[in-house]
Amino acid sequence: MSTRILVVYYSATGNTAKLAAALAGGAAEAGAEVRLRTVAETAPAEAIASNPRWQAHVHSAPAVELATLDDLEWADGFAAGSPTRFGGPASQLKSYLDTTGGLWAKGRLVNKVATSFTTSSTAHGGLESTVLATNNIFYHWGAIVLPLGYTDPHLMESGNPYGGSFVSRKSAAPDETALRALHLQGNRLAQIAGYVAAGIRGG
Ligand SMILES: Cc1cc2nc3c(=O)[nH]c(=O)nc-3n(C[C@H](O)[C@H](O)[C@H](O)COP(=O)(O)O)c2cc1C
Repeated sequence: MSTRILVVYYSATGNTAKLAAALAGGAAEAGAEVRLRTVAETAPAEAIASNPRWQAHVHSAPAVELATLDDLEWADGFAAGSPTRFGGPASQLKSYLDTTGGLWAKGRLVNKVATSFTTSSTAHGGLESTVLATNNIFYHWGAIVLPLGYTDPHLMESGNPYGGSFVSRKSAAPDETALRALHLQGNRLAQIAGYVAAGIRGG
């Protein structure tokens, strides 16, 4: 049975979506069965209309299925991504995560391997605080929080041991360095979730 990986993200202007796709690709390359999912947009239309890049993304991004609770229960490993919003994850991602109380109460999220990623427009604008705040939820689940670390020489270059990230200063789109780091994060998530799942299934 292949390792099951769920990648869930929110993205307003497309950067986190690209990071999520790279992470999903890394997990698939490692042999995992991967579900790539987004979450519902809850911002009012006028907020979206005030940002041409947000508006364009809402209108032109390829359709991606919305994550369900079944996706989360199905997964052995889980990656959550969001743009940094005032130093933390976007409410759209948090809203999805806040629907997991029922699964949490039944212990269904225990021992899933979980990791986070983000993008911000500035280098010191909260990349780490967003990853750490997202990971806080995983501690409550009893999940196994997976850092990216410096587990590959490439990560010395991309430089975020907390989780894959990208600085989108001046509206830059994720570059090859960042995408490679996310790919490696997906590889690692699939590998470690596979070890844990094999142990659980093997009894
Ligand atoms: C409401 C709002 C809050 C933001 N807060 C921060 C922030 O705290 N630090 C930062 O560096 N960038 C911040 N940004 C910029 C986004 O994190 C950045 O543009 C990111 O790359 C967008 O990702 P996306 O294309 O996936 O939506 C903010 C953007 C918005 C719209």
